[in-house]
Amino acid sequence: MQTEMDLGHRHGGRVTGKWKKRPTSHHSYRTPLLLAALTIFALFISSKIFISPSLFSLSRNSQPLLGRRCAISAASPGEKFLWYAPHSGFSNQLSEFKNAILMAAILNRTLIVPPVLDHHAAVLGSCPKFRVLDPNGLRFNVWNHSIQLIRDRRYLSMADIVDLSSLVSTSAVRFMDFRVFVSKWCDVNLSLACTADSSIHSSLLERLRQCGSLLSGYDGNVDACLFASQEDCRTTVWTYQTDDDGVLDSFQADDELKKKRKISFSRTRKDVFKALGPGSTAGSATVLAFGSLFTGPYKGSESHIDIHKAPRDQKIQSLIQKIEFLPFVSEILNAGKSFARQTISAPFLCAQLRLLDGQFKNHWKGTFLAMKQTLDLLKQKGSLPIHVFIMTDLPRLNWTGTYLGDLEKDPDAFKLFVLREDDELVAQTTKKLVNAAYGMKLQSVSQNFDGREQQCSPLALPDVLLFVEETICSCASLGFVRTAGSTIAESIELMRKNSAC
Ligand SMILES: *[C@@H]1O[C@H](CO)[C@@H](O)[C@H](O)[C@H]1NC(C)=O
Ligand SMILES: *[C@@H]1O[C@H](CO)[C@@H](O)[C@H](O)[C@H]1NC(C)=O
Ligand SMILES: *[C@@H]1O[C@H](CO)[C@@H](O)[C@H](O)[C@H]1NC(C)=O
Ligand SMILES: *[C@@H]1O[C@H](CO)[C@@H](O)[C@H](O)[C@H]1NC(C)=O
Repeated sequence: MQTEMDLGHRHGGRVTGKWKKRPTSHHSYRTPLLLAALTIFALFISSKIFISPSLFSLSRNSQPLLGRRCAISAASPGEKFLWYAPHSGFSNQLSEFKNAILMAAILNRTLIVPPVLDHHAAVLGSCPKFRVLDPNGLRFNVWNHSIQLIRDRRYLSMADIVDLSSLVSTSAVRFMDFRVFVSKWCDVNLSLACTADSSIHSSLLERLRQCGSLLSGYDGNVDACLFASQEDCRTTVWTYQTDDDGVLDSFQADDELKKKRKISFSRTRKDVFKALGPGSTAGSATVLAFGSLFTGPYKGSESHIDIHKAPRDQKIQSLIQKIEFLPFVSEILNAGKSFARQTISAPFLCAQLRLLDGQFKNHWKGTFLAMKQTLDLLKQKGSLPIHVFIMTDLPRLNWTGTYLGDLEKDPDAFKLFVLREDDELVAQTTKKLVNAAYGMKLQSVSQNFDGREQQCSPLALPDVLLFVEETICSCASLGFVRTAGSTIAESIELMRKNSAC
């Protein structure tokens, strides 16, 4: 077969049966010359096809950025990083953080520790309904919000809240604060983000925007530099060492959903180490960016990550047990304990009542009924008044007319306690956390970089009320009544189980 001829003439747009059937002898003397010309032509065409437009635009717009960005690896040769995009409320962000720790350990990457995002600042959508924001979009929203937190001077790192010292000391995982990473990767002095000089400001912000857009995956992957994963809960269930790599997951979109959402794919179980570890394209990239790392059990499967044990990896196996419960840092624990011991100063019941947020609005009756039954029992057998710590999103002014209002009217039987955002204890705790700056102290590998020099000192203090409240509830020796289905309740249960108080 004269494949060269076919190829050449296909490009020329004149392939005919006649040409293909010609005896080779007929034009043999012209072949070398013709071949050379055709080869050059083919090379020209394929270079146009195979060099993607995104790479062209990348080198045109941000050549300096690209060079500097991957220079981050020069700081500590061979070090690779993992970034991901958390979303939703704190409990959710915490569970994603744990998954990220696990992924970072499996893939031997330094985990970029994100800030605590405002409640619902980033939204993923619904995995069971196959309606979620794509990974690039989610990453960019999270990036944008994180930069906003820096600019607003109310940035609090996950590591400022969650105590990572046991993981750091055993070198189970390496961490880097997001701010330090941004300074290095985008080569910016972040403290300029909060200066008044508007000309510096806008160019810095533009640079950060470009940098975030690249990291989010909008310019595609960049060899050896960035791999922005496009997998999400619609397409992938990550596994590790379960020998079902490539197998279809048991949960798939049904026909109706497939039609409605124009779904043309199936959800596949994939071994994360095989897909993204050493030897893969992702494995050679300095930065690996995941989208959401949220997972939850759904219809007998997991929505996105199904890694509960590591049968052939002792290190990961013990890490899985270790991260099941990650305590708050001591500043938070001490604040909660001090409220329980000094302010309440008696055995007490904790009532965690989520009444206003979304799905919980319609469950007031059931929530209050369960609380009343518990209190009636305590009233029969205990001494009065019964001390109750109430953790709720319903403002105290609005208690009138609810069961909480009834309790307030009966001070002989019930002594109620609440903690508020503007309480001195909360303000003090926040100040301590800001001073402790645990997040900025995470960088074991970059001692020559003191990130604090380049940061904006906090102005508006972020909200740590929730964490102190959860700690107080973990101290409630008379028990704990909860709003069914609330993730906050789950984390309190976990604290109680692990005797955090
Ligand atoms: C993990 O990564 C570090 C570089 O950050 C490297 O020194 C080490 O050898 C790697 N470990 C394995 C098991 O590949
Ligand atoms: C980034 O966040 C800012 C402030 O929250 C917002 O005004 C802006 O629209 C966001 N930009 C994008 C592209 O989402
Ligand atoms: C970053 O900017 C701040 C404020 O302008 C300045 O004080 C600091 O020295 C700068 N740091 C570096 C490393 O350039
Ligand atoms: C709480 O009370 C205030 C003032 O009476 C009212 O404006 C507000 O709508 C109430 N909020 C709720 C959630 O009931």
